[in-house]
Amino acid sequence: MPAPMSGISVCVFDAYGTLFDLKAVVETGRRVLGDRADELSGLWRRKQLEYSWLRSLMGRHSDFWHVTGESLDYALKAMSIDDPSLRSRLMEAYLSPATYPEVKATIEKLKTTGHRLAILSNGSPTMLTSATKAAGLAEHFDAVLSVETVGIYKPHPTVYRLVTDHFDCQAANVAFLSSNGWDAAGASAFGFQVVWVNRDGLPRDILPAVPHAEVTSLASLPDLLS
Ligand code: LAC
Repeated sequence: MPAPMSGISVCVFDAYGTLFDLKAVVETGRRVLGDRADELSGLWRRKQLEYSWLRSLMGRHSDFWHVTGESLDYALKAMSIDDPSLRSRLMEAYLSPATYPEVKATIEKLKTTGHRLAILSNGSPTMLTSATKAAGLAEHFDAVLSVETVGIYKPHPTVYRLVTDHFDCQAANVAFLSSNGWDAAGASAFGFQVVWVNRDGLPRDILPAVPHAEVTSLASLPDLLS
C-alpha cells in the first residue's frame, strides 16, 4: 500500500483510460471486426495521442473530437477497412463510453469526504459533457475542465494550470489521477501529487518526473487520501 497523501483538497481525474474504458468503445464494432477490434483500438488510441502531441508542437490545435476522427481514419486506412457505417458507430460510441467498474462507487465515496472533484481532459467540452452524463457522473464533479480553454494538449503545463486557477489552490494540494503514464509524468512535473492508475501493468515511463503512488484501480484512492 503506497504512503497516504496529505494536504489534498482537490481530486482531479483524467478522463479517457482513467474513468472511461476506451477498449470498450470498439466493442460496438467487434461483430464486424472480430479479433481485429483490439488492433484497431490500440492503433486508434496511439494515433489519437500522437496527433494531439504533434498538433501541439506544430502550433496547429484542433479539438479532440476532430483529432479522434482523424486518428480513426488513419487507423481504418492502415488496416484496409473501408466501412463508413462502422466509422460512424465507433465515433458515436466515443460519446458514451463505459466507465471502469469501480469508478462510480469511488467517486461517490470521495464526494462524502469533502474533497472537491474535477476532470481535466484533452476531451472537448461536448465530448466530456456527453460522457459524464451518459455515465450518470455529471452532478458529482465540481468542475469539468477541458484543454479547449487553452488550445494546447496535455502534458503542456498550461493545461495543468487550469486546475490551480479554477480552484485557486496550490499544485501540492491537488491529487491527480491518470492511467496514462505520460500524463502522470506531466502532472508530477507541474507539482501535483500524482497517483498513476496502472491498469495494464505497464513499466513506468522514463520521463523527468515520477508519480507519488501507483495503484491498479481507483478503488484504493479513498484510503490513500484519508
Ligand atoms: C484525456 C486523455 C489523455 O482524457 O486520456 O485527457
